[in-house]
Amino acid sequence: MSSEIQQSPKRVTTRTIQEMKEAGHPIACLTAYDFLTARLLDEAGVDLLLVGDSVSNVFQGNPTTLPVTLDEMIYHTKAVSRVVKRAMVITDLPFMSYQVTTEEAFRSAGRVMKETLAHGVKVEGGRRAAKVVEKISGEGIPIIGHIGLMPQSILKFGGYRPRGTTDDEADELLQDAAALQEAGAFAIVLEKIPATLGKRITDSVDIPTIGIGAGPHCSGQILVTHDMLGLFEDFRPRFVRRYASLADDMDRAFRQYIHDVKMGTFPNESESY
Ligand code: KIV
Repeated sequence: MSSEIQQSPKRVTTRTIQEMKEAGHPIACLTAYDFLTARLLDEAGVDLLLVGDSVSNVFQGNPTTLPVTLDEMIYHTKAVSRVVKRAMVITDLPFMSYQVTTEEAFRSAGRVMKETLAHGVKVEGGRRAAKVVEKISGEGIPIIGHIGLMPQSILKFGGYRPRGTTDDEADELLQDAAALQEAGAFAIVLEKIPATLGKRITDSVDIPTIGIGAGPHCSGQILVTHDMLGLFEDFRPRFVRRYASLADDMDRAFRQYIHDVKMGTFPNESESY
């Protein structure tokens, strides 16, 4: 499919992302954990690729994002970033790689930057993560914050209900966004909050917001690629728009192959030497 959107072939950087917000050009972001998907996404023109800790759910089959390790995030980031030519590649710092001390957080971010070709990292938390963001950003590593629904805290919250639905929660999130900007984050992911709050937060900060279930007024949007492709069907939040039904296609292909092998119709003459 050809895109009518004109895009600069130049590498996307923190500056590009900031300019896109200022020019009102929406930032298109998706997740990737492997080189093939990353290459397809990059060639299609995605602006930012997140090696998300959602790899824990949709690749490793865990019930939450908590089990994935820093070594595993580095492994997936290497596969993604070695093939990407234009998009900015950001890696999630996983649970327990940045919460204990600011020094450990910086060491984790430093490992990602030294051992992969990623362009930055992302952490969950607003005011509580501000010191970590300040240290990592202060040392020259681009960093994104993530507030609203934070999957690494899902067991504490006891579920995936939207956040920021009361005045108090909305005020907290506005303060979190301000703290992240102040600490040096270059963007903020807003997950599963009312669209009106997504707009208020986006208007309240100078840096771009990237929404996932945060309405149309964010500076950009992100989805988990496996969800939008209809590959991961375990649960389907309302904010996921399905652009394909790959699980159905794969199921059909697998069944047909098994059928053909068992019926002796694969391989045929032209598929043999
Ligand atoms: O891990 C992830 O995939 C994320 C989302 C924002 C998509 O953090």
